[in-house]
Amino acid sequence: MSKALEGVRILDMTHVQSGPTCTQLLAWFGADVIKIERPGVGDATRGQLQDIPNVDSLYFTMLNANKRGMTLNTKDDDGKAIFTKLIKHCDVMVENFAPGALDRMGFTWERIQEINPRMIYASVKGFGPGPFQDCKVYENVAQCTGGSASTTGFDDGPPLVTGAQIGDSGTGLHLLAGILAALYQRTNTGRGQRVECAMQDSVLNLCRVKLRDQQRLAHGVLKEYPQYPNGVFGDTAPRSGNASGGGQPGWIVKCKGWETDANAYIYIITQAAVWGKLAEAIGHPELVDDPEWATPDARLQRLEEVFDLIEQWTMTKTKFEAMDILNPLNVPCGPILSMKEISEDMSLRDTGTVVEVDHPERGKYLTVGNPIKLSDSPSDVQRSPLLGEHTDDVLREIGFSDTEIGEARASGAV
Ligand SMILES: CC(C)(COP(=O)(O)OP(=O)(O)OC[C@H]1O[C@@H](n2cnc3c(N)ncnc32)[C@H](O)[C@@H]1OP(=O)(O)O)[C@@H](O)C(=O)NCCC(=O)NCCS
Repeated sequence: MSKALEGVRILDMTHVQSGPTCTQLLAWFGADVIKIERPGVGDATRGQLQDIPNVDSLYFTMLNANKRGMTLNTKDDDGKAIFTKLIKHCDVMVENFAPGALDRMGFTWERIQEINPRMIYASVKGFGPGPFQDCKVYENVAQCTGGSASTTGFDDGPPLVTGAQIGDSGTGLHLLAGILAALYQRTNTGRGQRVECAMQDSVLNLCRVKLRDQQRLAHGVLKEYPQYPNGVFGDTAPRSGNASGGGQPGWIVKCKGWETDANAYIYIITQAAVWGKLAEAIGHPELVDDPEWATPDARLQRLEEVFDLIEQWTMTKTKFEAMDILNPLNVPCGPILSMKEISEDMSLRDTGTVVEVDHPERGKYLTVGNPIKLSDSPSDVQRSPLLGEHTDDVLREIGFSDTEIGEARASGAV
């Protein structure tokens, strides 16, 4: 079956996580992604957090599937000549180096347009133009500067970062959307364009509801936050603990086994429409019509008590038993799944969301496949390339003879 982006060539200058997330998705949609790495060095993540000595790390293999790998020194004159040919040959260049790195190599946006006016040039940086534009940025810096950390955690604790990589993978996803829009626009204009995503902006986009709450605060307290009704609200959107953040209150409650299992918990949302059935299920039918409990407004005054009662019931059930009882009642809820449970979940294997891949040096490992499912363009996950595995193939495709490939190797350009 053909793929959505068949025929699109990506010059992949990305490293670490944010850029590679984006180009891995482009590869899963069928683009030919040529990952460029420094000869002898490669993407730093190949060697980071290695579980098996001298074998590409899971950090690398799980972010670089379905790509081809080429080494090229883009600071060397012969390397620059090859890089220029690659810019002519490709449709999209993606990079997430420190600010100015490509300019310093001599490849400014103006120069790239001269070489190939159809080129779409996409970049991730930590910040957009402004006081921090020259800063290097990693995931947690973006979470802290994009509004996530100040609104995550409990009121009596420090700001918290989340395990979801909203700065890195989140920005990669935003960049992907920009590249696809630019490719579509190019079909009409024939011209490439610059696509830029700042990690701070992407995190803030994902924290949009918190900027909503910041403005609501000027008009009164935020009743769905755990600080209501007895806590103190300052002048900024506070940390919201495990509150649901929407109009329907939710919280995490203990389930059977919580004393020894760190993940024996379930998230329950007390959606107004199902309060009666929920009250009956937890053994409190008298609360269905009690005016102190029956309406959402009445419950907002006593949410802690509401979830205490629910918890007394959930502590007598495993998280899966509670789910089985509450789901048919249309009570929105979800067990806290551990990574172990997720890795063993066969329904995620069936959909290709969790995939087992074979690698010549490490053997079999699990990765997360393409979470975006296209009916006419299925994604099959292929292992990541070894450092420089496809250098000769790519050089041949841009017109190099065997002798010229030998010369490029001898000069250290590749
Ligand atoms: C992630 C980040 C902090 C890493 O910083 P770093 O490890 O110091 O790496 P840099 O991006 O500065 O690149 C290092 C150097 O290698 C050079 N380099 C990279 N690939 C090369 C190649 N194929 N050939 C020759 N030189 C190469 C770069 O040009 C740069 O040189 P310079 O400092 O002389 O300009 C930084 O790249 C960054 O802030 N990126 C943007 C934000 C981002 O994506 N962060 C999230 C990462 S998940």
